[in-house]
Amino acid sequence: MLAPPDSWPPARRWVQLALVNLAVAALLGALMRYIFLWEVPGVEYRNIMHSHSHGAMLGWVYLVLFAGYVLLAGPERRAYTYLFWATQLTVVAIFGLFAVQGYSVASISATSLHVLLSYVSVGLLWPDLRRKLDGSAALPYLLAGLGSIVLSTLGLWALGAIMSAKPPNMTLFYLAIQFFLHGQLNGWFMFGTLGLVVAYLEKRQLPLNVARLRQAFVLLLCSLLPTYGLAVAWAERHPAIYAVTALGVLLQLLGVVQWLRAVWPALRQLMAPLAPLLRGLWAFGIGSLAFKAVVHAAVAVPYVAIMSFTVRNFVIGFVHLVTLGATTLTVLALLHAQGLISLRGRAARLGAWLLLAGFVLTELLLFLQGLMLWLDWSFIPAYHSILFLATLLLPAGALLLAFRAARTKLPAG
Ligand code: HEM
Repeated sequence: MLAPPDSWPPARRWVQLALVNLAVAALLGALMRYIFLWEVPGVEYRNIMHSHSHGAMLGWVYLVLFAGYVLLAGPERRAYTYLFWATQLTVVAIFGLFAVQGYSVASISATSLHVLLSYVSVGLLWPDLRRKLDGSAALPYLLAGLGSIVLSTLGLWALGAIMSAKPPNMTLFYLAIQFFLHGQLNGWFMFGTLGLVVAYLEKRQLPLNVARLRQAFVLLLCSLLPTYGLAVAWAERHPAIYAVTALGVLLQLLGVVQWLRAVWPALRQLMAPLAPLLRGLWAFGIGSLAFKAVVHAAVAVPYVAIMSFTVRNFVIGFVHLVTLGATTLTVLALLHAQGLISLRGRAARLGAWLLLAGFVLTELLLFLQGLMLWLDWSFIPAYHSILFLATLLLPAGALLLAFRAARTKLPAG
């Protein structure tokens, strides 16, 4: 059974635009995998990667979570509509400018504008959510998501200072970028997604263990800064840094276990009557979250920590496990449950299946090849071609979702 379609129609338009941003990011991702096979004259790989990663984070995940937050905070405030459209304009600039110029004054200015708009959004959402969701188990998660936006962007401002030194310290440059990435992926994306899921389960009055949700929140919050130690360990392999990281990843694992135990009865009840596709989205979304915590916990062993940042396949596999698996798949299941997209039509269902299949296949290939590289076993035959073909499922899926699942007028029923 579906929750009633959301009563605020502009939210569907926002979600559709966010999905278009996902489709653009996915096309850029496929282009990068194509460049591994054949050179494309005039296209700079690094620029495409910056355009892809900034656009996906700031255009897809940021905006879709923003839409979810605004629906909870009270969309009647007109400022949210202005903020959405202004932010979307910066996203267009971010995609275009990074693709053509890479890091430049113009692309950095567009990103800075996005960051400043996000601060205004945080400033409005924070009190509105506290008022509307007072006493709700979702509130601490949602607020921690907002706090993580501000925290992570400190890394971006530090970049400016680091780059203005002559010559710039490249280790600090790397650490500042990793701080931003860490705060986004493990802070904003995680707390934002978990908070929206809990808010939805609460709205449906499904059975939640609130005390356990609070414990999980404290554990996850305490793990956020220490888990950044993994990036620091790349630059400075001091035993104390490994110890802090190990503590962080273990706290995170405990937090995820407690969260899952707290919501499990509710999730089971929610998923029981669903079609296989929707069950698949929930299972792979929440499953990726659990798997991410387990993979992350393995770096408590210093040997695994060194392996994780030495082999690029593991880094890329991990980044997409969080962004595409834990965040995107869970958010898609949630959007359908709330009536903001519809996965009932054939084309829309196909889109979601393609995205799910593309995610699973590319993750398997990335991790398997990563393991083989670490063991000095060379390459899976035709690895880059197979990876490219599997990657094509992702933009195909995202395009179908953007143009067939997220129509502004949804069928009744
Ligand atoms: C939708 C399909 C997607 C595809 C096909 C894709 C593909 C790629 C590829 C090919 C790379 C470069 C890998 C390399 O240089 O070895 C990459 C990097 C990256 N992607 Fe994606 N991606 C997708 C979705 C996303 C999403 C949704 C996000 C974030 C919300 C994201 C964030 C990133 C980041 C941050 C990097 C850079 C990682 C680093 O350099 O450490 N991607 N992606």
